[in-house]
Amino acid sequence: MKKRIPHSPDFQFNNEESNTSASPSFDAVLATRLSRRRLMLGAAGAAATTVFGGAGLVGCASTGTTGGVASAALPLRSLGFSAVAKSLADAVVVAPGYQVQVLYALGDPLTAATPAFKNDGTDTHFDQRAGDHHDGMEWFGLDASGQPSSSAVSRGLIAMNHEATTDEKLSSHFIHANGGTATLPRPPTEVDKELAIHGLSVVEVQSVGAQWNYLQASPFNRRVTAETEVLISGPAKGSAHLVTPYSPDGTHSRGTLNNCGTGKTPWGTFVSGEENWYGYFFRDAKDDARRGKKDKQVTALNRYGRKAGAASRHGWESAGPDDRFARWNNSAVGASAKMDYRNEMNTFGYVVEMDAYDRTQAVRKRTGLGRFAHESVSFAKPVVGQPVVAYMGDDARNEYMYKYVSAAKWDAADANPADRLATGDKYLDKGTLFVASFKDDGTGQWIELSMNNPIVAANPDFEFTSDADVAIFTRLAADAVSATKMDRPEWGGINPRNGEFYMTLTNNSNRTVDGDAGVDAANPRYYKDMKGAKENKGNVHGHIIRVAQAHPADTAFKWDIYLFASEADADKSRVNLSSLTDDNDMSAPDGLVFSQATGLCWIQTDDGAYTDKTNCMLLAAIPGQVGDGSKKTLTYPRADGSEKRVETHIGKPQSPDILKRFLVGPVDCEITGLCETPDGRAMFINIQHPGEGTKMADIGNPAKYTSQWPANAGYGAGQRPRSATIVITKKDGGVIGS
Ligand code: FEO
Ligand code: CA
Ligand code: CA
Repeated sequence: MKKRIPHSPDFQFNNEESNTSASPSFDAVLATRLSRRRLMLGAAGAAATTVFGGAGLVGCASTGTTGGVASAALPLRSLGFSAVAKSLADAVVVAPGYQVQVLYALGDPLTAATPAFKNDGTDTHFDQRAGDHHDGMEWFGLDASGQPSSSAVSRGLIAMNHEATTDEKLSSHFIHANGGTATLPRPPTEVDKELAIHGLSVVEVQSVGAQWNYLQASPFNRRVTAETEVLISGPAKGSAHLVTPYSPDGTHSRGTLNNCGTGKTPWGTFVSGEENWYGYFFRDAKDDARRGKKDKQVTALNRYGRKAGAASRHGWESAGPDDRFARWNNSAVGASAKMDYRNEMNTFGYVVEMDAYDRTQAVRKRTGLGRFAHESVSFAKPVVGQPVVAYMGDDARNEYMYKYVSAAKWDAADANPADRLATGDKYLDKGTLFVASFKDDGTGQWIELSMNNPIVAANPDFEFTSDADVAIFTRLAADAVSATKMDRPEWGGINPRNGEFYMTLTNNSNRTVDGDAGVDAANPRYYKDMKGAKENKGNVHGHIIRVAQAHPADTAFKWDIYLFASEADADKSRVNLSSLTDDNDMSAPDGLVFSQATGLCWIQTDDGAYTDKTNCMLLAAIPGQVGDGSKKTLTYPRADGSEKRVETHIGKPQSPDILKRFLVGPVDCEITGLCETPDGRAMFINIQHPGEGTKMADIGNPAKYTSQWPANAGYGAGQRPRSATIVITKKDGGVIGS
């Protein structure tokens, strides 16, 4: 692959045609907009209702009424709770005045006939139970008669990702009685359970007073597993690169894998990102040689993390000749793509769309949104007559940020369509993908990834012959245009107060001072941090970047870094650049969700660097806007006596008034997934993989489990730790965070 120079002339592609980044018109529009916003936000005592009424609420009319009522009571200028201290307890610790209830955990039955979960490794029928590793989730309200409702607050569906499973070596050790088999071949009975604990679920929940429950027998309950039939949709549908024995015409596949972040479309469906899917596939050591130099997929397989000889995460391909196991061997071992699963991996890595209200409709892989390690999908507030715009990140070190712009223009009638997935076809199957390029001066450009871009179409390193190729091999197209390598893009969110887009960059151990991944304006930190005796280097704690545009579909943007995550006692001139204190210091921001009811920004961590001092956490924030801080120059001395200087753009300093820790989770967990009732009075979050540090050899010896949550909180049988959804309410019934 050609060596990429971040700021080469290639980087300026399409300046004449679409770049308005330096144009006075863009700046003028933005300046006008910002000053109008300052008028609205800045005046002391500006009521939340004014802000929401004037600037508009992202998303649907759904939350407008209740959101307005709720926000009227919210003091926007400070957070209304006391900060929670850092904690190493094996418990969920929440701010005073709030209560936490466990609602829905790994293994919970989803049909009337499914036996209760014994939690001892003997349970079966996981396709009728909650899956593992609860991750992103979204709320879909139901009225009293069971019809979709955008204002319901006491009955609804939660649609959820089940990203992965806690494992050591090959086995998902907590779901097998003796910890399972850590050598090849894997037994079919174990693999069948593991296939079924991945995917998605839909579960009905309701509240009676302050008490929330899930409904085991609800007809809405649904599981999508690694084996459920799915439809390929968008530009890659029918591509020769998606041909398999299961789908010789490249239009179908099975399952969704490693679903991480989520989103909710303006037309009321659930979308989910397939993240680290490539690790599930095996490639034998001779596969490159067998495919030969003419097969461009050798380049793609290497770029997507599957070198020849790559072992799979669980060894599912080893369980026998049956098609449900053989499909995980991505080697070209047969006579053609119709005779082996050489293309199976190409059917993963997409955003999938599901109608949470209709379990009879197949999930669709929306290939137009590109193929990479997807996290969440953040839809800008749709504007009638304008394209639908969605922002996405590729969560791997030095990968990119993306934006999708639909060809179809938004029609207000589509907010409540008769056929939600047909509406998804309309907006998500025809459109254009862009990748972000950040410039040192605080501006940036979205670069088009399509055959219209001559740098993609004439790329010497990988032959793109169609937009189907761009959809399937997106990373290679983004490489060609020299997009900016980011510090692991995770969740995104749109600030409902001003439409600005936020994205967490969780950390990057491969960030260096110089070289291809050298520090730059948008990823400016390289430092060392000690965890006990272990030294970590790079951007250990991550940051959150934000982007302002006059209109979401614009190719030009302005940016700054909203927040640098840090330990409170780190060097304030180089590491703790946002002035974090013990009330709000954090590491590895990952989940990020703006409340539609209150406008608060909720930040969740998935950390391994600060876990000597605290378990992962949830914080609440009242962010400002792009440009509310200052320039900052970081200086890195080199061994030869020279120095590298990086000038970055940093948001205003933090204080506990505007950023505060709200909750800390149990041992070895990640805090993720957040949704709420439209009145902001019940918040659901996920506790993922508590106790994941437990050794396989210790299965059956509960005293050695690193966590026993949620059993130790009184939920469910057994002592094995379980991923679970919790619901948080205020004891006085008030709005969360106020
Ligand atoms: Fe599944 Fe990027 O976290
Ligand atoms: Ca440390
Ligand atoms: Ca994540």
